[in-house]
Amino acid sequence: MTGTTTAPGTTAPGESGRLGEDELRALQLERLQWTLDHAYRNVAFYRAKFDAAGVHPSDCRSLADLAKFPATTKDDLRANYPFGAFAVPREQVSRIHASSGTTGQPTVVGYTRNDLQVWAEVVARSIRAAGGGPGDLVHISYGYGLFTGGLGAHYGAEHLGCTVVPASGGMTARQAQLIRDFRPDLIMVTPSYMLTLVDELRRQGIDPRDTGLRAGIFGAEPWTEDMRREIEQALGIDAVDIYGLSEVMGPGVAAEFAETKDGLHIWEDHFYPEVIDPVLGDPLPDGESGELLFTSLTKDALPIIRYRTRDLTRLLPGTARPAMRRMERITGRSDDLIILRGVNVFPTQIEELVLRADGLSPHFQITLSRRERMDHMTIRVEALDDTTADQRRAAPASLTRAVKDAVGITAEIAVVDPGTLERSVGKLRRVRDERGA
Ligand code: DLL
Repeated sequence: MTGTTTAPGTTAPGESGRLGEDELRALQLERLQWTLDHAYRNVAFYRAKFDAAGVHPSDCRSLADLAKFPATTKDDLRANYPFGAFAVPREQVSRIHASSGTTGQPTVVGYTRNDLQVWAEVVARSIRAAGGGPGDLVHISYGYGLFTGGLGAHYGAEHLGCTVVPASGGMTARQAQLIRDFRPDLIMVTPSYMLTLVDELRRQGIDPRDTGLRAGIFGAEPWTEDMRREIEQALGIDAVDIYGLSEVMGPGVAAEFAETKDGLHIWEDHFYPEVIDPVLGDPLPDGESGELLFTSLTKDALPIIRYRTRDLTRLLPGTARPAMRRMERITGRSDDLIILRGVNVFPTQIEELVLRADGLSPHFQITLSRRERMDHMTIRVEALDDTTADQRRAAPASLTRAVKDAVGITAEIAVVDPGTLERSVGKLRRVRDERGA
Protein backbone atom coordinates (compact mmCIF):
# COMPACT_ATOMS: atom_id res chain seq x y z
CA MET A 1 0.00 0.00 0.00
CA THR A 2 1.36 3.35 -1.01
CA GLY A 3 0.51 7.02 -1.17
CA THR A 4 -1.60 9.27 0.97
CA THR A 5 -4.52 7.71 2.74
CA THR A 6 -6.40 10.87 3.54
CA ALA A 7 -8.54 12.70 1.03
CA PRO A 8 -7.70 16.31 0.19
CA GLY A 9 -9.27 18.86 2.48
CA THR A 10 -10.84 16.56 5.05
CA THR A 11 -8.85 17.70 8.04
CA ALA A 12 -11.38 20.41 8.87
CA PRO A 13 -14.79 18.81 8.48
CA GLY A 14 -17.65 21.22 8.14
CA GLU A 15 -15.77 23.82 6.16
CA SER A 16 -17.03 22.53 2.81
CA GLY A 17 -20.75 22.30 3.65
CA ARG A 18 -21.64 25.71 2.23
CA LEU A 19 -19.53 26.13 -0.89
CA GLY A 20 -20.74 27.85 -4.04
CA GLU A 21 -21.44 25.61 -7.01
CA ASP A 22 -18.16 26.25 -8.89
CA GLU A 23 -16.08 25.74 -5.78
CA LEU A 24 -17.99 22.57 -4.99
CA ARG A 25 -17.44 21.10 -8.47
CA ALA A 26 -13.73 21.89 -8.29
CA LEU A 27 -13.46 20.28 -4.87
CA GLN A 28 -15.40 17.24 -6.08
CA LEU A 29 -13.07 16.75 -9.04
CA GLU A 30 -9.99 17.01 -6.87
CA ARG A 31 -11.42 14.53 -4.38
CA LEU A 32 -12.69 12.22 -7.11
CA GLN A 33 -9.26 12.03 -8.69
CA TRP A 34 -7.76 11.24 -5.30
CA THR A 35 -10.39 8.54 -4.67
CA LEU A 36 -9.89 6.81 -8.03
CA ASP A 37 -6.16 6.82 -7.51
CA HIS A 38 -6.46 5.59 -3.91
CA ALA A 39 -8.79 2.75 -4.95
CA TYR A 40 -6.66 1.75 -7.93
CA ARG A 41 -3.43 1.67 -5.99
CA ASN A 42 -4.69 0.03 -2.82
CA VAL A 43 -7.60 -2.27 -3.71
CA ALA A 44 -6.86 -5.24 -5.94
CA PHE A 45 -10.41 -5.65 -7.24
CA TYR A 46 -10.67 -2.02 -8.35
CA ARG A 47 -7.33 -2.30 -10.12
CA ALA A 48 -8.49 -5.47 -11.89
CA LYS A 49 -11.83 -3.92 -12.85
CA PHE A 50 -10.31 -0.67 -14.15
CA ASP A 51 -7.66 -2.60 -16.11
CA ALA A 52 -10.29 -4.89 -17.62
CA ALA A 53 -12.32 -1.84 -18.69
CA GLY A 54 -9.20 -0.17 -20.09
CA VAL A 55 -9.45 2.90 -17.83
CA HIS A 56 -6.90 4.43 -15.53
CA PRO A 57 -7.42 7.04 -12.77
CA SER A 58 -5.49 9.54 -14.94
CA ASP A 59 -8.34 9.33 -17.51
CA CYS A 60 -10.57 11.26 -15.10
CA ARG A 61 -10.12 14.89 -16.12
CA SER A 62 -13.66 16.07 -15.47
CA LEU A 63 -16.58 14.91 -13.33
CA ALA A 64 -18.26 13.57 -16.48
CA ASP A 65 -15.30 11.22 -17.02
CA LEU A 66 -16.44 9.22 -14.01
CA ALA A 67 -19.00 7.51 -16.27
CA LYS A 68 -16.10 5.77 -18.07
CA PHE A 69 -15.31 3.79 -14.92
CA PRO A 70 -17.00 0.47 -14.15
CA ALA A 71 -19.79 0.36 -11.59
CA THR A 72 -19.44 -1.55 -8.32
CA THR A 73 -22.10 -3.94 -7.02
CA LYS A 74 -22.88 -5.65 -3.74
CA ASP A 75 -21.48 -8.84 -5.28
CA ASP A 76 -18.09 -7.17 -5.73
CA LEU A 77 -18.00 -6.45 -2.01
CA ARG A 78 -19.25 -9.93 -1.12
CA ALA A 79 -16.57 -11.50 -3.30
CA ASN A 80 -13.99 -9.64 -1.21
CA TYR A 81 -15.42 -10.71 2.14
CA PRO A 82 -14.43 -9.84 4.75
CA PHE A 83 -11.69 -7.19 4.39
CA GLY A 84 -10.57 -7.47 0.76
CA ALA A 85 -12.14 -4.15 -0.30
CA PHE A 86 -10.26 -2.14 2.34
CA ALA A 87 -7.77 0.36 0.95
CA VAL A 88 -5.83 0.72 4.20
CA PRO A 89 -4.20 -1.91 6.41
CA ARG A 90 -6.74 -3.45 8.80
CA GLU A 91 -4.89 -1.93 11.76
CA GLN A 92 -5.88 1.54 10.52
CA VAL A 93 -9.55 0.64 10.50
CA SER A 94 -11.19 1.98 13.66
CA ARG A 95 -14.60 0.42 13.23
CA ILE A 96 -16.39 -2.27 11.27
CA HIS A 97 -20.07 -2.37 10.38
CA ALA A 98 -21.92 -4.97 8.34
CA SER A 99 -25.25 -5.19 6.62
CA SER A 100 -26.95 -8.53 6.82
CA GLY A 101 -28.84 -8.36 3.55
CA THR A 102 -31.60 -10.83 2.95
CA THR A 103 -29.50 -13.72 1.69
CA GLY A 104 -26.01 -15.06 2.12
CA GLN A 105 -22.88 -13.34 3.25
CA PRO A 106 -22.94 -10.02 5.08
CA THR A 107 -21.36 -7.00 3.43
CA VAL A 108 -18.53 -5.72 5.59
CA VAL A 109 -17.59 -2.04 5.68
CA GLY A 110 -14.78 -0.26 7.52
CA TYR A 111 -13.94 3.26 8.69
CA THR A 112 -10.70 4.95 9.61
CA ARG A 113 -10.65 7.55 12.35
CA ASN A 114 -10.92 10.21 9.67
CA ASP A 115 -13.87 8.43 8.02
CA LEU A 116 -15.66 8.38 11.37
CA GLN A 117 -15.08 12.10 11.74
CA VAL A 118 -16.53 12.81 8.29
CA TRP A 119 -19.48 10.57 9.06
CA ALA A 120 -20.19 12.37 12.34
CA GLU A 121 -19.99 15.66 10.44
CA VAL A 122 -22.53 14.71 7.76
CA VAL A 123 -24.94 13.30 10.36
CA ALA A 124 -24.53 16.49 12.42
CA ARG A 125 -25.45 18.52 9.33
CA SER A 126 -28.45 16.26 8.80
CA ILE A 127 -29.69 16.85 12.35
CA ARG A 128 -29.19 20.58 11.90
CA ALA A 129 -31.22 20.39 8.67
CA ALA A 130 -34.05 18.85 10.70
CA GLY A 131 -33.97 21.87 12.99
CA GLY A 132 -31.78 20.35 15.70
CA GLY A 133 -28.87 22.07 17.38
CA PRO A 134 -26.42 21.95 20.27
CA GLY A 135 -28.08 21.26 23.59
CA ASP A 136 -31.02 19.36 22.11
CA LEU A 137 -31.90 16.03 23.66
CA VAL A 138 -31.90 13.34 20.96
CA HIS A 139 -33.54 9.95 21.45
CA ILE A 140 -32.03 7.38 19.08
CA SER A 141 -34.07 4.27 18.36
CA TYR A 142 -32.11 3.04 15.37
CA GLY A 143 -30.51 -0.28 16.23
CA TYR A 144 -27.03 -0.14 17.73
CA GLY A 145 -24.54 -2.77 16.63
CA LEU A 146 -23.38 -3.89 13.21
CA PHE A 147 -26.23 -1.90 11.62
CA THR A 148 -24.97 1.62 10.85
CA GLY A 149 -28.14 3.37 12.04
CA GLY A 150 -27.60 3.58 15.79
CA LEU A 151 -23.90 4.39 16.06
CA GLY A 152 -24.01 6.57 12.94
CA ALA A 153 -26.78 8.74 14.36
CA HIS A 154 -25.17 8.67 17.80
CA TYR A 155 -21.79 10.14 16.91
CA GLY A 156 -23.39 12.70 14.62
CA ALA A 157 -25.64 13.92 17.41
CA GLU A 158 -22.73 14.06 19.86
CA HIS A 159 -20.63 15.90 17.28
CA LEU A 160 -23.35 18.54 16.99
CA GLY A 161 -23.34 18.98 20.77
CA CYS A 162 -26.60 17.24 21.56
CA THR A 163 -27.43 15.13 24.60
CA VAL A 164 -27.86 11.61 23.29
CA VAL A 165 -30.14 8.88 24.61
CA PRO A 166 -28.86 5.67 22.97
CA ALA A 167 -32.10 3.70 23.23
CA SER A 168 -31.47 1.41 20.22
CA GLY A 169 -34.34 -0.71 18.86
CA GLY A 170 -36.67 -2.86 20.94
CA MET A 171 -37.84 -2.81 24.58
CA THR A 172 -40.64 -0.63 23.34
CA ALA A 173 -42.44 -0.16 26.65
CA ARG A 174 -39.28 1.13 28.28
CA GLN A 175 -38.51 3.44 25.36
CA ALA A 176 -41.96 4.97 25.57
CA GLN A 177 -41.40 5.56 29.27
CA LEU A 178 -38.02 7.20 28.60
CA ILE A 179 -39.60 9.46 25.99
CA ARG A 180 -42.29 10.43 28.48
CA ASP A 181 -39.79 11.10 31.30
CA PHE A 182 -36.85 12.67 29.42
CA ARG A 183 -38.92 14.76 26.97
CA PRO A 184 -36.47 14.60 24.03
CA ASP A 185 -36.47 17.38 21.43
CA LEU A 186 -35.70 15.04 18.55
CA ILE A 187 -36.12 11.38 17.76
CA MET A 188 -34.17 9.35 15.16
CA VAL A 189 -35.90 6.11 14.23
CA THR A 190 -37.33 4.15 11.30
CA PRO A 191 -40.79 5.41 10.37
CA SER A 192 -42.28 1.96 10.98
CA TYR A 193 -40.83 1.76 14.50
CA MET A 194 -42.12 5.28 15.17
CA LEU A 195 -45.62 3.93 14.60
CA THR A 196 -44.92 1.14 17.08
CA LEU A 197 -43.75 3.72 19.64
CA VAL A 198 -46.82 5.88 19.03
CA ASP A 199 -49.08 2.92 19.79
CA GLU A 200 -47.11 2.12 22.93
CA LEU A 201 -47.26 5.72 24.17
CA ARG A 202 -51.02 5.65 23.76
CA ARG A 203 -51.21 2.26 25.50
CA GLN A 204 -49.42 3.86 28.45
CA GLY A 205 -52.04 6.60 28.47
CA ILE A 206 -49.79 9.29 26.99
CA ASP A 207 -50.93 11.46 24.10
CA PRO A 208 -47.91 11.38 21.75
CA ARG A 209 -48.50 15.08 21.09
CA ASP A 210 -47.69 15.79 24.75
CA THR A 211 -44.16 14.34 24.65
CA GLY A 212 -42.61 17.69 23.75
CA LEU A 213 -40.91 16.25 20.66
CA ARG A 214 -40.17 18.87 18.01
CA ALA A 215 -38.86 16.85 15.08
CA GLY A 216 -38.19 13.30 13.95
CA ILE A 217 -35.51 12.12 11.52
CA PHE A 218 -36.74 9.04 9.73
CA GLY A 219 -34.98 6.72 7.34
CA ALA A 220 -33.47 3.29 6.65
CA GLU A 221 -36.62 2.19 4.81
CA PRO A 222 -38.95 3.68 2.20
CA TRP A 223 -41.86 5.80 3.42
CA THR A 224 -44.38 8.10 1.81
CA GLU A 225 -45.81 11.62 2.05
CA ASP A 226 -48.94 10.08 3.55
CA MET A 227 -46.81 8.46 6.25
CA ARG A 228 -45.17 11.84 6.89
CA ARG A 229 -48.61 13.37 7.48
CA GLU A 230 -49.66 10.46 9.70
CA ILE A 231 -46.55 10.78 11.89
CA GLU A 232 -46.61 14.59 11.99
CA GLN A 233 -50.22 14.60 13.08
CA ALA A 234 -49.79 11.85 15.66
CA LEU A 235 -46.84 13.59 17.33
CA GLY A 236 -47.22 17.24 16.37
CA ILE A 237 -43.67 17.31 14.95
CA ASP A 238 -41.73 18.00 11.76
CA ALA A 239 -40.96 14.64 10.17
CA VAL A 240 -37.97 14.67 7.82
CA ASP A 241 -36.18 12.07 5.77
CA ILE A 242 -32.59 10.84 6.14
CA TYR A 243 -30.92 8.50 3.68
CA GLY A 244 -27.80 6.44 3.55
CA LEU A 245 -26.41 2.97 3.10
CA SER A 246 -23.61 1.03 4.74
CA GLU A 247 -21.55 0.60 1.59
CA VAL A 248 -21.38 4.36 1.10
CA MET A 249 -21.20 5.35 4.80
CA GLY A 250 -24.42 4.80 6.73
CA PRO A 251 -27.12 7.36 7.64
CA GLY A 252 -26.30 10.92 6.58
CA VAL A 253 -25.44 10.56 2.90
CA ALA A 254 -28.44 12.81 2.25
CA ALA A 255 -30.97 14.58 4.46
CA GLU A 256 -34.08 16.64 4.22
CA PHE A 257 -34.45 20.19 5.54
CA ALA A 258 -37.41 20.82 7.85
CA GLU A 259 -37.87 24.27 6.32
CA THR A 260 -38.45 22.90 2.80
CA LYS A 261 -39.44 19.21 3.15
CA ASP A 262 -38.80 18.76 -0.54
CA GLY A 263 -36.57 15.72 -0.78
CA LEU A 264 -33.06 15.07 0.48
CA HIS A 265 -29.99 17.22 -0.05
CA ILE A 266 -27.01 15.06 -0.86
CA TRP A 267 -23.86 16.04 1.03
CA GLU A 268 -22.07 16.31 -2.28
CA ASP A 269 -18.71 17.37 -0.89
CA HIS A 270 -18.38 13.76 0.34
CA PHE A 271 -20.65 11.68 -1.92
CA TYR A 272 -20.98 12.10 -5.67
CA PRO A 273 -24.35 10.95 -7.03
CA GLU A 274 -25.30 9.69 -10.49
CA VAL A 275 -28.52 8.22 -11.82
CA ILE A 276 -28.41 5.52 -14.48
CA ASP A 277 -30.89 3.52 -16.47
CA PRO A 278 -31.24 0.44 -14.24
CA VAL A 279 -31.40 -1.94 -17.20
CA LEU A 280 -29.00 -0.43 -19.74
CA GLY A 281 -26.64 1.16 -17.24
CA ASP A 282 -26.46 4.43 -19.21
CA PRO A 283 -26.11 7.71 -17.28
CA LEU A 284 -29.34 9.72 -17.16
CA PRO A 285 -29.55 13.52 -16.98
CA ASP A 286 -30.65 15.20 -13.74
CA GLY A 287 -34.43 15.14 -13.44
CA GLU A 288 -34.84 11.66 -14.91
CA SER A 289 -35.69 8.70 -12.69
CA GLY A 290 -33.45 5.69 -12.47
CA GLU A 291 -31.04 3.83 -10.21
CA LEU A 292 -28.95 5.89 -7.85
CA LEU A 293 -25.16 5.42 -7.85
CA PHE A 294 -22.69 6.87 -5.37
CA THR A 295 -18.97 7.46 -5.48
CA SER A 296 -17.30 8.33 -2.20
CA LEU A 297 -15.07 11.42 -2.40
CA THR A 298 -13.24 11.33 0.91
CA LYS A 299 -13.33 7.79 2.24
CA ASP A 300 -10.06 6.23 3.32
CA ALA A 301 -10.88 2.69 4.45
CA LEU A 302 -13.48 1.73 1.88
CA PRO A 303 -13.44 3.95 -1.20
CA ILE A 304 -16.50 3.12 -3.24
CA ILE A 305 -16.71 3.82 -6.97
CA ARG A 306 -20.07 4.14 -8.73
CA TYR A 307 -21.84 1.90 -6.24
CA ARG A 308 -25.16 0.62 -7.56
CA THR A 309 -27.58 1.25 -4.68
CA ARG A 310 -30.62 -0.35 -6.41
CA ASP A 311 -32.58 2.59 -4.99
CA LEU A 312 -34.77 4.41 -7.46
CA THR A 313 -35.00 8.19 -7.50
CA ARG A 314 -34.05 11.27 -9.51
CA LEU A 315 -31.69 14.19 -8.94
CA LEU A 316 -33.08 17.70 -8.60
CA PRO A 317 -31.48 21.12 -8.15
CA GLY A 318 -30.69 22.25 -4.61
CA THR A 319 -33.03 24.53 -2.68
CA ALA A 320 -32.13 24.95 1.01
CA ARG A 321 -28.45 24.41 0.01
CA PRO A 322 -28.41 25.68 -3.57
CA ALA A 323 -25.04 24.14 -4.54
CA MET A 324 -25.95 20.63 -3.39
CA ARG A 325 -28.36 18.59 -5.45
CA ARG A 326 -31.41 16.94 -3.96
CA MET A 327 -32.70 13.44 -4.48
CA GLU A 328 -36.38 12.76 -4.48
CA ARG A 329 -37.69 10.55 -1.67
CA ILE A 330 -36.90 6.91 -2.55
CA THR A 331 -40.02 5.30 -3.90
CA GLY A 332 -38.55 1.83 -3.64
CA ARG A 333 -35.62 -0.40 -4.37
CA SER A 334 -35.51 -2.38 -7.56
CA ASP A 335 -35.37 -5.43 -5.23
CA ASP A 336 -38.69 -4.45 -3.58
CA LEU A 337 -40.57 -4.23 -6.83
CA ILE A 338 -43.48 -6.66 -6.79
CA ILE A 339 -44.38 -8.03 -10.18
CA LEU A 340 -47.88 -9.39 -9.90
CA ARG A 341 -49.36 -10.88 -13.05
CA GLY A 342 -47.15 -8.59 -15.08
CA VAL A 343 -48.03 -5.42 -13.18
CA ASN A 344 -45.27 -3.58 -11.30
CA VAL A 345 -46.11 -2.41 -7.79
CA PHE A 346 -44.00 -0.92 -5.01
CA PRO A 347 -45.08 -1.47 -1.39
CA THR A 348 -45.02 2.32 -0.95
CA GLN A 349 -47.89 2.61 -3.45
CA ILE A 350 -49.97 0.36 -1.20
CA GLU A 351 -48.87 2.34 1.86
CA GLU A 352 -50.32 5.54 0.40
CA LEU A 353 -53.67 3.91 -0.20
CA VAL A 354 -53.88 2.22 3.21
CA LEU A 355 -53.12 5.52 4.92
CA ARG A 356 -55.89 7.23 2.98
CA ALA A 357 -58.47 4.55 3.79
CA ASP A 358 -61.25 5.35 6.20
CA GLY A 359 -61.20 3.62 9.60
CA LEU A 360 -57.97 1.68 9.10
CA SER A 361 -54.69 1.90 10.99
CA PRO A 362 -51.32 2.45 9.26
CA HIS A 363 -50.27 -1.11 10.15
CA PHE A 364 -50.45 -3.44 7.17
CA GLN A 365 -48.68 -6.39 5.64
CA ILE A 366 -48.58 -7.69 2.08
CA THR A 367 -48.52 -11.42 1.34
CA LEU A 368 -47.93 -12.79 -2.15
CA SER A 369 -49.06 -16.32 -2.85
CA ARG A 370 -49.96 -18.54 -5.76
CA ARG A 371 -53.47 -19.82 -6.18
CA GLU A 372 -54.34 -22.05 -9.11
CA ARG A 373 -51.12 -21.00 -10.78
CA MET A 374 -52.06 -17.32 -10.52
CA ASP A 375 -50.25 -14.74 -8.41
CA HIS A 376 -52.35 -13.41 -5.59
CA MET A 377 -51.88 -10.43 -3.26
CA THR A 378 -53.41 -10.24 0.19
CA ILE A 379 -53.17 -7.01 2.17
CA ARG A 380 -53.83 -7.44 5.87
CA VAL A 381 -54.63 -4.14 7.56
CA GLU A 382 -55.35 -3.58 11.21
CA ALA A 383 -58.50 -1.80 12.25
CA LEU A 384 -58.22 1.04 14.77
CA ASP A 385 -59.53 0.73 18.31
CA ASP A 386 -62.40 3.03 17.40
CA THR A 387 -63.18 1.63 13.94
CA THR A 388 -66.95 1.17 13.72
CA ALA A 389 -68.57 -2.05 12.52
CA ASP A 390 -69.81 -0.20 9.42
CA GLN A 391 -66.34 1.08 8.58
CA ARG A 392 -64.92 -2.37 9.05
CA ARG A 393 -67.49 -3.87 6.70
CA ALA A 394 -66.99 -1.21 4.05
CA ALA A 395 -63.18 -1.05 4.14
CA PRO A 396 -62.26 -4.16 2.09
CA ALA A 397 -64.35 -3.24 -0.93
CA SER A 398 -63.28 0.39 -0.96
CA LEU A 399 -59.57 -0.41 -0.50
CA THR A 400 -59.75 -3.10 -3.20
CA ARG A 401 -61.23 -0.49 -5.51
CA ALA A 402 -58.58 2.10 -4.61
CA VAL A 403 -55.79 -0.41 -5.30
CA LYS A 404 -57.38 -1.45 -8.57
CA ASP A 405 -57.76 2.18 -9.70
CA ALA A 406 -54.31 3.32 -8.63
CA VAL A 407 -52.14 0.30 -9.42
CA GLY A 408 -54.25 -1.85 -11.66
CA ILE A 409 -54.24 -5.07 -9.66
CA THR A 410 -56.92 -6.88 -7.72
CA ALA A 411 -55.85 -7.45 -4.13
CA GLU A 412 -57.71 -9.23 -1.39
CA ILE A 413 -58.09 -7.06 1.71
CA ALA A 414 -58.39 -8.57 5.17
CA VAL A 415 -59.16 -6.20 8.04
CA VAL A 416 -57.71 -7.68 11.22
CA ASP A 417 -58.02 -6.73 14.89
CA PRO A 418 -55.84 -3.97 16.36
CA GLY A 419 -52.46 -5.22 17.60
CA THR A 420 -52.45 -8.51 15.69
CA LEU A 421 -49.85 -7.82 12.98
CA GLU A 422 -46.16 -8.14 13.72
CA ARG A 423 -44.66 -4.80 14.78
CA SER A 424 -41.47 -3.27 13.49
CA VAL A 425 -38.55 -2.73 15.86
CA GLY A 426 -36.30 -1.42 13.10
CA LYS A 427 -36.50 -1.99 9.38
CA LEU A 428 -39.90 -3.37 8.60
CA ARG A 429 -40.42 -6.39 6.37
CA ARG A 430 -43.53 -5.30 4.54
CA VAL A 431 -43.87 -8.12 2.03
CA ARG A 432 -44.02 -11.87 2.50
CA ASP A 433 -43.51 -13.63 -0.78
CA GLU A 434 -44.79 -17.18 -0.49
CA ARG A 435 -44.95 -17.80 -4.22
CA GLY A 436 -41.78 -19.84 -4.32
CA ALA A 437 -42.75 -21.96 -1.35
O1 DLL B 1 -30.27 1.79 6.40
C1 DLL B 1 -28.52 3.38 6.83
C2 DLL B 1 -29.51 4.28 7.48
C3 DLL B 1 -29.73 4.17 8.85
C4 DLL B 1 -30.15 5.28 6.77
C5 DLL B 1 -30.62 5.02 9.45
C6 DLL B 1 -31.02 6.14 7.38
C7 DLL B 1 -31.26 6.02 8.73
P1 DLL B 1 -28.35 -0.16 5.17
O2 DLL B 1 -28.82 -1.08 6.24
O3 DLL B 1 -27.11 -0.49 4.45
O4 DLL B 1 -28.14 1.28 5.72
O5 DLL B 1 -29.55 -0.05 4.15
C8 DLL B 1 -29.46 0.84 3.06
O6 DLL B 1 -31.85 1.22 3.10
O7 DLL B 1 -30.07 1.33 0.02
C9 DLL B 1 -32.24 2.01 0.93
O8 DLL B 1 -32.77 0.94 0.18
C10 DLL B 1 -32.79 1.96 2.33
N1 DLL B 1 -32.92 3.31 2.87
C11 DLL B 1 -32.09 3.96 3.69
N2 DLL B 1 -32.58 5.20 3.97
C12 DLL B 1 -33.73 5.33 3.27
C13 DLL B 1 -34.70 6.36 3.13
C14 DLL B 1 -29.10 2.09 6.31
N3 DLL B 1 -34.62 7.52 3.77
C15 DLL B 1 -30.75 0.82 2.28
N4 DLL B 1 -35.74 6.12 2.29
C16 DLL B 1 -30.75 1.81 1.15
C17 DLL B 1 -35.87 4.95 1.63
C18 DLL B 1 -33.95 4.12 2.56
N5 DLL B 1 -35.00 3.95 1.75
